[in-house]
Amino acid sequence: MLVGAERPGAAVPSAESLQELGRLADTAGLRVVGSATQALRRPDPATFIGRGKVTELRALRDRLPADVVVFDDALSPAQQRNLERELGCKVIDRSALILDIFAQRARSTEGKLQVELAQLEYLLPRLTRQWTHLSRLGGGVGTRGPGETQLEVDRRRVRERVGLLKRRLAAVERTRTLHREQRAAVPAPIVALVGYTNAGKSTLMRRLTGADVHVEDRLFATLDPTTRRLPLPGGVPALMVDTVGFIHKLPHQLIEAFKSTLEQVATATVLLHVVDVSHARWREHVRIVDGVLQEIGADRVPTWFVFNKIDAGAEDAQPTPAELEHGTCVSALHGDGIEALRERIEGLVATTLVRVDWAVPLGRGDVVAALRGGGRVVAEQVRDGHLRVTALVPPTLAGRLRKQAPEIRNACN
Ligand code: GTP
Repeated sequence: MLVGAERPGAAVPSAESLQELGRLADTAGLRVVGSATQALRRPDPATFIGRGKVTELRALRDRLPADVVVFDDALSPAQQRNLERELGCKVIDRSALILDIFAQRARSTEGKLQVELAQLEYLLPRLTRQWTHLSRLGGGVGTRGPGETQLEVDRRRVRERVGLLKRRLAAVERTRTLHREQRAAVPAPIVALVGYTNAGKSTLMRRLTGADVHVEDRLFATLDPTTRRLPLPGGVPALMVDTVGFIHKLPHQLIEAFKSTLEQVATATVLLHVVDVSHARWREHVRIVDGVLQEIGADRVPTWFVFNKIDAGAEDAQPTPAELEHGTCVSALHGDGIEALRERIEGLVATTLVRVDWAVPLGRGDVVAALRGGGRVVAEQVRDGHLRVTALVPPTLAGRLRKQAPEIRNACN
């Protein structure tokens, strides 16, 4: 059973937020049997919703009957405990539900460690002796992963586990940085896909790179980022990375835990912000994603909008001419607009490249190979025992090659 609250000044109306909560519940493997909302000026410190509403909910829950009550808003540990006692069943909030989905969907070692860490951080303040009342109640969503043993473990043991997870994550991150540095031997520009969950990022990734990535009409189908080579018409080399979808009221613990993964977004060369324009409130989604981008320090990266699902959008909800100055309309599913987008991406990537006109000694074939691998060579010619080469390359590559081969000279005509 889902419970929402109509709060004054809320960014998303409760009916819509509740509908999204229903999709989250479905993704987590729950079957929604009923829902309720309450207009709420100020949450009750003990039970979040008003006392009268609690009694009403108890009757509704018994009648349905429901095994789990999911609140759309964040509950304090005390509110959650009190509600469980009053309603006689498990009570979780949106954050717990999202954490549960992440726990089910994480595949990589790093992803699993990050989710477990987020779950434990969420659990820690909720860990009191009073949790024993839950032992009578059924398991299921919200009890997976570290939740299963929460009754026995005390705070100290959870903290120890948190410490261990953080150390392991740091080790995994070190290895990854190493890999990234090795990969950066030929540093190609990175184009990262961001967007609200279900916007069509994986479909677009598949369309643009031909990669066989996972697509599903469920929230958070993608959890572990994938990187693929992105072919561009003019031959500028680039890599494309798909990232986890964002959502409103994304649990803070998750953003914290996924910081290292999300860093890939902040260090990308270009961001493609994918928007599902067939969703009636897509502009709200854009604001939410922008908020997360700001939080992870990615708002400085040049961003281009991809207005996706134009095949399914309503006429009146299409992007305005002003919005189209910063984005391209596509249908990732059917392929419309994809070539125009590819050209646009190349243009954006090209603006981040620098032009080098070098005279490279003929013995330094490695320099020329690096220019070819990480950039685009536009002209080359052998003259006076040197290779005169003109290329567009990422500034980092130009800097590194200069250091590696001090004998490079600027070519003058
Ligand atoms: P998360 O993993 O939740 O972040 O989702 P995502 O952004 O990767 O979305 P995904 O590519 O998995 O697509 C979600 C759903 O939208 C799938 O059912 C796709 O088939 C559908 N979809 C994607 N692009 C289009 C499009 O251009 N038109 C239509 N009609 N549907 C699309």
